[in-house]
Amino acid sequence: MSQKTAKSLRSYRWFGPDDLRSFGHRSRAASMGCIQADYAGKPVIGIINTWSDANPCHSHLRERAEAVKRGVWQAGGFPMEMPAITLGETFQKPTTMMYRNLLAMEAEELLRSYPVDGCVLLGGCDKTTPALLMGAISMNLPAIFVPAGPMLRGNWHGQILGSGSDVMKYWAERRAGNIDQQAWLQIEEGIARSAGTCMTMGTASTMTSVAEALGFSLPGASSIPAVDANHPKMCDRAGRRIVEMVWEDLKPRNILNAASFRNAITAVLALSGSTNAVIHIIALAGRAGIKLTLDHFDELSKKTPVLANIRPSGKYLMEDFYYAGGLSALLKALSPHLDLSCLTVTGKTLGENVAASEIYNSDVIRNVDNPVFASGGLVIVRGNLAPTGAVIKPVAAEPRLLKHEGRAIVFDSYNEMNARIDDPALDADANSVLVLRNAGPKGAPGMPEWGNLPIPQKLLKQGVRDMVRISDARMSGTNYGTCVLHVSPESFVGGPLALIKEGDIVELDVERRQLNMRVSEEELSRRRAAWRPQQGVYRRGYGKLYMQHIKQADEGCDFDFLEGTEAIPEPEIH
Ligand code: FES
Repeated sequence: MSQKTAKSLRSYRWFGPDDLRSFGHRSRAASMGCIQADYAGKPVIGIINTWSDANPCHSHLRERAEAVKRGVWQAGGFPMEMPAITLGETFQKPTTMMYRNLLAMEAEELLRSYPVDGCVLLGGCDKTTPALLMGAISMNLPAIFVPAGPMLRGNWHGQILGSGSDVMKYWAERRAGNIDQQAWLQIEEGIARSAGTCMTMGTASTMTSVAEALGFSLPGASSIPAVDANHPKMCDRAGRRIVEMVWEDLKPRNILNAASFRNAITAVLALSGSTNAVIHIIALAGRAGIKLTLDHFDELSKKTPVLANIRPSGKYLMEDFYYAGGLSALLKALSPHLDLSCLTVTGKTLGENVAASEIYNSDVIRNVDNPVFASGGLVIVRGNLAPTGAVIKPVAAEPRLLKHEGRAIVFDSYNEMNARIDDPALDADANSVLVLRNAGPKGAPGMPEWGNLPIPQKLLKQGVRDMVRISDARMSGTNYGTCVLHVSPESFVGGPLALIKEGDIVELDVERRQLNMRVSEEELSRRRAAWRPQQGVYRRGYGKLYMQHIKQADEGCDFDFLEGTEAIPEPEIH
């Protein structure tokens, strides 16, 4: 790393020279009421903000951008807020996953095409975190990630409600006839009480924790509730720190290496984080030129204890996690499993950042000698149903189902599943294995969170609450159950999931990392010969680009042309 000077700032090329172009840039800065002293010789900080009315999780980010600006001004920088596509998980269809790479491209190109020296990234709702980080890693300018923060605990009749996890729990009870319409509406009103991201250990909190474990956020940032006064304070500090980082020329690829990615995976496992993290971390590493495979996750999973007692696999919520010490305390407890020498945005190591942290509630955050689970945050299974791998979260499953065989009930599409699942004539019992295909990166397309297939209503009424479910889809990190996800290759491209038939026997053995259908190789060859590819639905636009370049789940679902560290030329200033 080298120290920057005023003339070696990237933005100097726009604002510094005594020429016609710079005259234009400066005169238009003046048109916004800025005087030269506001920006001349100062780092320009791009604040990429994913605020939108279309994203309830980010409804406070307009105000938070102001807090970041305050910090930037105070440290002698010049803030420039830049809105970007919001990826509102709840409202955007068919799925935000389809647009993760679009936001990543937008972030990268915003940073490239404007006079930016460093950036603060405001995100948190599921895909926004990996997308913003992917763009920033590719552009490799100094960057701090500011997480939106989790929302407050949900509440219904004095019971604590968790995003997603309790939706699925009470929806099952509603379908079983145990909850009436009035109670259901009260739950609807009480489950999301504030701005912020889902407050279970879903994909949002998993990925903001990944950002922090990688060294991209200020220590403790990912655990602060969105509406806590400590949140805008953290934003202010991020604004101040990014200005220092520009002068220090501390860039993402100074921070990221194989060890920092191992730390991030280990943190996800200790949090019992979302299965989605597997896809996103592989994609993030790809942008830094680091090759990660599913085996890295499985190897670390065998030796990493689950320390966070948070729903969906545990008891508490993110607000409790914050009061118990937050991610900093968990990382300190996890120290024997981490490389504490990794550099972070503070300019200090991960070990230095967490050294003073303490656990204030040892039931919410456990120590390694008293874990919630000894291991198994995430497990990778393979076999003739998933040759290149599939993911399961055993700690969120009923243990009796982790070694299981049963007859397959096969759904060719999400719509077919919805049409048949509650049919009293469905030939399913508690041992059946529910299979959904054509729900992968290309098949759906966009790999929606359909992998938590609903339990058939007739079985719910018999008291069944979990079954083995298999798909090439993803699952919300807030959900639970014995769900084998991300089956690769997906059925749409001819993976073996396309070949399974109703009535085939499926064998799942999590301990042996196996997922197979009991069908002979000769019969599979016959089925493969008869299989015909489907047409995609997109003939133009972003959907067509997506279908041409999206990679499979085990490879991170990035676009093939966005991976790697090949430099893209800086824009000419004409
Ligand atoms: Fe935004 Fe869950 S819907 S984080």
